[in-house]
Amino acid sequence: MADQKSRILIIGGSGYLGKYIVGASAKAGHPTFALVRESTLSDPVKGKLIENFNNLGVTLHHGDLHDHESLVKAIKLVDVVISAVGYTQVAEQVKIIAAIKEAGNVKRFIPSEFGNDVEHSHVVEPAKSGFDAGVQIRRTVEAEGIPFTCVSCNYFAGYFLPTLAQPEATAPPRDKVCIFGDGNAKAIFNTEEDIATYTIRAVDDPRTLNKILYLRLPRNIYSFNELVALWEKKIGKPLEKIYVPEEQILKDIKESQFPLNVFLAINHSVFVKGDHTNFAIDPSFAVEASELYPDVKYTTVEEYIHQLLI
Ligand SMILES: NC(=O)c1ccc[n+]([C@@H]2O[C@H](COP(=O)([O-])OP(=O)(O)OC[C@H]3O[C@@H](n4cnc5c(N)ncnc54)[C@H](OP(=O)(O)O)[C@@H]3O)[C@@H](O)[C@H]2O)c1
Repeated sequence: MADQKSRILIIGGSGYLGKYIVGASAKAGHPTFALVRESTLSDPVKGKLIENFNNLGVTLHHGDLHDHESLVKAIKLVDVVISAVGYTQVAEQVKIIAAIKEAGNVKRFIPSEFGNDVEHSHVVEPAKSGFDAGVQIRRTVEAEGIPFTCVSCNYFAGYFLPTLAQPEATAPPRDKVCIFGDGNAKAIFNTEEDIATYTIRAVDDPRTLNKILYLRLPRNIYSFNELVALWEKKIGKPLEKIYVPEEQILKDIKESQFPLNVFLAINHSVFVKGDHTNFAIDPSFAVEASELYPDVKYTTVEEYIHQLLI
């Protein structure tokens, strides 16, 4: 039936972002499958997540990126494959591509990117290699002729807003705040739920076929200075502002360990170089989510920040 919803397999569904994508897929009524490693089932925290997947009616399929047959078997059951594997596994998605080629039935593949646009980036090492791997995956998908959508969702709100992007902090600043660069570059913060919702909306949409889907949700675009001003208004007091110049950030990146060095390198790309917003969306190969799906009521940065007070 033409109006039947695609069957979706999520690889990396038990991960930080993946669980939101599994939830959004099931809630949107797609027959939803999650590829899960056997070892994950015995993990107490992930076990709870898997229980929730069962409650949502998700079909679990045991498998592993490194087990080609398990991938092919799972992929043959579905129409759409979404990869939400982690940052360090981006290059390994060639294994998913090989399995999709062999299975031969996939109508859409969404590789794991879910961040800055990997092709509009001034990111430095150690994050640069991860971005380069993302570019390589795009080229391989195109070369293999696999129908795709890439999701460039910019920052996960949950990663950055609860601390106002303060390195190694666990709460938002109450006295002083570090601002990267001059604080004027515009960044974009979207909730994980909304990223998942837009991703699922895209899978059956011909307008997103072989395109990059950008999440430039208008009310979620803020410079660091604007973000701090918003937070100051919420807490009713000004903060001491420490502007960290680019040279210092680059030095800090070199002198810190993983994963802090990656976090700082991405902050440098976004807050100093402006990589979320310093280019125009080219309609020949890209679309914007809030324009395609104006009915989605997304969570705004203002609403998110407000919740931090409670
Ligand atoms: N924009 C942002 O602010 C932002 C922030 C963070 C991440 N990201 C991006 O979002 C994407 C997802 O990252 P994440 O942090 O959500 O990932 P994550 O939490 O590290 O999850 C990785 C997932 O991959 C699965 N996995 C790992 N090795 C596997 C294997 N050999 N076979 C099958 N599955 C395997 C894991 O399964 P187990 O549960 O079994 O371990 C887990 O489900 C990445 O592209 C990352 O770069 C963006």
